[in-house]
Parts: sequence; structure tokens; C-alpha cells
Amino acid sequence: MYNISLKGKAVLITGAAQGIGRCITLKMAEAGAKGITVVDLQGGKPMERLQKELEALGSEVIVHTGDVSRGETIKGAISATTERWGSLDILINNAGIARRTDLFTTTEELWDLIIAVNLRSVFLGMKYAAEVMKEQGGGVIVNTSSIAGVTGGNTGPEYGASKAGVIALTKFAAKTLGKYNIRVNALAPGTIGTEMIKNAYKDLSEEAVKERLSTIPMGRMGEPEEVAKAALFLASDLSSYVSGDIVMVTGARMS
Ligand SMILES: NC(=O)c1ccc[n+]([C@@H]2O[C@H](COP(=O)([O-])OP(=O)(O)OC[C@H]3O[C@@H](n4cnc5c(N)ncnc54)[C@H](O)[C@@H]3O)[C@@H](O)[C@H]2O)c1
Repeated sequence: MYNISLKGKAVLITGAAQGIGRCITLKMAEAGAKGITVVDLQGGKPMERLQKELEALGSEVIVHTGDVSRGETIKGAISATTERWGSLDILINNAGIARRTDLFTTTEELWDLIIAVNLRSVFLGMKYAAEVMKEQGGGVIVNTSSIAGVTGGNTGPEYGASKAGVIALTKFAAKTLGKYNIRVNALAPGTIGTEMIKNAYKDLSEEAVKERLSTIPMGRMGEPEEVAKAALFLASDLSSYVSGDIVMVTGARMS
């Protein structure tokens, strides 16, 4: 029997306040992570609640509030992590946003915003974490892409493009960081029941929602917990020879 253990590990995760990020964070604590730095635009109640839950599971916590598309947020969170626990072993680049648009209605500003939050943040996280991980002799990075990064999706031009960029960055980083014992993979979730999907579906009729879900071979949305389990696999030694991979968590949806 193999135990999935993150005992002694220092983890940094972005977009932790809710949804998939919150679930992944709790999984890291359940697996025994020593310390977890949670980064999000949101502070306040959601983060206080998360901190209490993580501490109850035995992990120490740093709450870092800020915008992940800004270098200073990422550098600050990484420094706080290494100062407190002496290493950064696992980075989960999860924060992201989505807006329903098309080429007619979107704007240059929205393009810049979504590319900054979804793609620039992943570049920044990997750039600054790689320096620390190289120095300490290794580490693990898990990025959150999307099925939209493979198919183009139907959320909007910038969302699919940002998530395709995450896939390219993941592969580039895996190839160039492998020699430093740094593994890099991405998750590509399908339709997962979080606030993001609630917002995306809020203007659709019941019929339209049913039609969307009927395109999923497994016939249902995924739970954030199901993405978190895949994240735990990628973050742990269970995936010790997996790098440069895109793990689809889509209930067999492929288009
Ligand atoms: N829900 C899905 O169906 C789905 C599918 C594929 C990919 N994803 C991806 O999974 C990730 C998590 O999505 P979710 O569904 O949990 O979304 P969510 O909206 O429930 O949570 C996203 C979190 O990111 C935080 N965040 C947003 N912008 C930020 C910024 N600039 N700086 C710091 N934090 C920021 C939010 O405050 C929030 O806590 C995203 O990258 C998303 O694109 C989600």
C-alpha cells in the first residue's frame, strides 16, 4: 500500500479562497503538508475560514492577499514561504477568471485582463519558483489550464487562448527544468461545479444547461474535489516520472 504523503512539504497555491483552489488546498493539508501559503485577491471571511480548516488538519498557514498577475504578489508569497519553512516544494498555479464574450463583444482591455490573470500569473509563478527550486535541488509545479486550452472552448477568445498558453508554458518549463529535478504538469478540467461555472451558466435557460451537460460522456459536471485528487497525484511522488503532461479531468469530454 502506497501512502500519498506531503509530509514536511511547503506548498504555495493561488486562487485558494474558493472553488477548485480551496479544494486542492484542503487536499494538500489532508496529505500532511507542513506549510501552505494561500494566495488570493480575496482576503476576509473565506480566507479566515480556510486558514482555520487547514490548521485543524495540522498545516501551518500563510495568508497572502494580492493580484497574481503582479510580480510583487508572487515574489512576496514565495519569499514568505521560504523564510518561514526554508523551501518551496510545491507550487500550484490555480487562480483564473473567465468572462463570456465573443470576438464582437470583447475588448482590448478584457483581453489584457484575462491574459494577465490566467497566463502571465503562471509565467510569473514558474519564473520565480524555478529559481528557488533549482537552488534547493528540485520541486513540483502544477498549473491549471482547461479543456478550453485544447479545444478553443466556447467561453470567449481570450479564455481559450490563455489556457492554451498555460499548456505551452507547462511543456516548455517541463523540458527546460527537468535537469534540475523540477517536474511541471498541468490540469485541464472540463466543466466543474464552482462559482465560475455558476456565473457562466446564469443567463442560460435550463434547456441550454441540460444540452451542455449532455455533451459530457459521463453525463454530469465534475466536483472540485475530483480536480483536487488529480492535483494531489501530480503534486506527490505517485507521479515521480510524470512531467510535461496535461491531465484532462473532463468526464471523457474531448471537444
Ligand atoms: N470551474 C470550471 O469548470 C473550470 C474548468 C476549467 C478550468 N478551470 C480553471 O480552474 C481554476 C479555478 O477555477 P474555479 O472554477 O475554482 O474558479 P473560482 O472563480 O471559483 O475561483 C477562482 C479563485 O481565483 C481567485 N482569483 C481570481 N483572480 C485573481 C487574481 N487576479 N489574483 C489572485 N486571485 C485571483 C478568485 O478570488 C477565486 O478565489 C481557474 O484557473 C479556472 O480557469 C475551471
